[in-house]
Amino acid sequence: MNILILQGSPRANGNTAWMAGEFRKAAETAGHKVTLVDVAHKKIAGCMACEYCHGKGNGTCVQKDDMQELYPLLAEAEALVLAAPIYYFTMSAQIQAPIQRIYNMQKPGKLKKMALLLSSYSPGVYDGALGEYHGIQSYWGVEDAGVVTAKIDEQKTDATRDKILQLVSRL
Ligand SMILES: Cc1cc2nc3c(=O)[nH]c(=O)nc-3n(C[C@H](O)[C@H](O)[C@H](O)COP(=O)(O)O)c2cc1C
Repeated sequence: MNILILQGSPRANGNTAWMAGEFRKAAETAGHKVTLVDVAHKKIAGCMACEYCHGKGNGTCVQKDDMQELYPLLAEAEALVLAAPIYYFTMSAQIQAPIQRIYNMQKPGKLKKMALLLSSYSPGVYDGALGEYHGIQSYWGVEDAGVVTAKIDEQKTDATRDKILQLVSRL
């Protein structure tokens, strides 16, 4: 399966990056093709709601920023993994911009499955992110492969790695 991981923490050696990296290793070991993009280090602006994409842009976005690198990857992805830290009870701003810029595509054409990796300090802070994730996944009509969360005492642990391995086995 062709898997695209969007990693939305600015901290290169942080907990979300670790989860995304473990996911990538396990998925590659299982024979999948994986592309991991650190979207927090890309220049990706928010959607301007100009509707160019749904008019004369014919599905293309008028904003020529780093999102242009992601569009071909999204078009080929059969599984999309969102990996984000929780900032104020939802996914980080850095991952919201690329998610919302998928507006021009309606739905990534080959997508069949999605998965979610979340990192936080506290327990019980995931409802906002889960609502968004499940909303998008059901709007696109793709299968939910699963969600792994890691609060402070679950970060970079063998138990979390095992949950990620289980998740990869569902792709
Ligand atoms: C701006 C900001 C907002 C945060 N808001 C929350 C929050 O609402 N709930 C929570 O449990 N942790 C919150 N955190 C903590 C991070 O989610 C947590 O440290 C996470 O593991 C960071 O992931 P990272 O290491 O991948 O960057 C916040 C951190 C930052 C920087």
